[in-house]
Amino acid sequence: MKVLVINGPNLNLLGKRNKAIYGDKSLAEIETILKNHGQSLGADIVSFQSNSEGSLIDFIQTHSPTADGIIINPGALTHYGLALRDALADCSLPVIEVHLSNIYAREDWRASSVIAPIARGQISGLGWRGYVAALHTMIGELKGEDWE
Ligand code: DQA
Repeated sequence: MKVLVINGPNLNLLGKRNKAIYGDKSLAEIETILKNHGQSLGADIVSFQSNSEGSLIDFIQTHSPTADGIIINPGALTHYGLALRDALADCSLPVIEVHLSNIYAREDWRASSVIAPIARGQISGLGWRGYVAALHTMIGELKGEDWE
């Protein structure tokens, strides 16, 4: 099983950028945590970050045919990235949208996501743990596991 973990614009600066909102872990630290969880759950994690929408779309088009699901924090593209949304919809994989911050408790423009309507679900406001929760949920669903 393979899960793509994709991060959009400015998320390469995690750990330096507005720590009060985004936390103090770097993206590399979060990616390592996800790799370790993936290993214990029997899934390969392929991570990618770009500041450019086109590169994110190229990555999705190249890697989705051999993947089983996508976890994505689209950064600000969440709010206007229609080409990214089309690429995610076109690949027909389950998508979980993650935000470190609570996008509903910030500026009004952040409360709208063009990705959410094509996503399996969204986690917002749980910091880096949101990615871990998304990974466990995605792999659990892909395996058809029952958590009872
Ligand atoms: C973010 C929220 C977005 O509004 C913002 O542009 C980001 C990060 C988050 O993880 O909370 O870059 O996606």
